[in-house]
Amino acid sequence: MREMILQTSVKVYTYDEFSAEDRQLIDAARKATERSYAPYSKFNVGAAVRLVDGTVVTGNNQENAAYPSGLCAERTTLFWANAQYPDVAVDTIVIAARSEGGELQVPIPPCGACRQVILEVEKRYNRTIRIVLYGKRECYVIEDGIKALLPLCFDSDFLE
Ligand code: THU
Repeated sequence: MREMILQTSVKVYTYDEFSAEDRQLIDAARKATERSYAPYSKFNVGAAVRLVDGTVVTGNNQENAAYPSGLCAERTTLFWANAQYPDVAVDTIVIAARSEGGELQVPIPPCGACRQVILEVEKRYNRTIRIVLYGKRECYVIEDGIKALLPLCFDSDFLE
């Protein structure tokens, strides 16, 4: 028997510590929470994606009375970005959330299905995506791509 240790590095920032460019993207994700359609959970999630050419795309969670028919903010945003700009890789994604009590103090991490979609986008453009999770008190930054949040992941390599 041997053991594999899979390590993840998450950098913890406060909002003020980000560059002006990052703060702009974070603010776009925060703003996107206000346009979310979440009448069932009342949990509003926003995402903002910056493409490598500087284009910014935002989105949010879209719920449905038939619950599984809704979609998370991350996937709404990435699918839209890839649908509009199929030839431009994604550089950074920011995720922000708000409940009835307002913006959350600590960041929310992407759900498993969204992690899998982020992985697919990384593979598609052969480029890791920087992931920024916004919280009022602190933010988490994963610099080196989704594999840090999805160890032992299944991707297209296994289909070859
Ligand atoms: N949600 C997201 O949009 N992103 C996440 O990372 C976690 C959860 C949404 C799905 C649903 O509309 C609501 O938040 C409550 O789960």
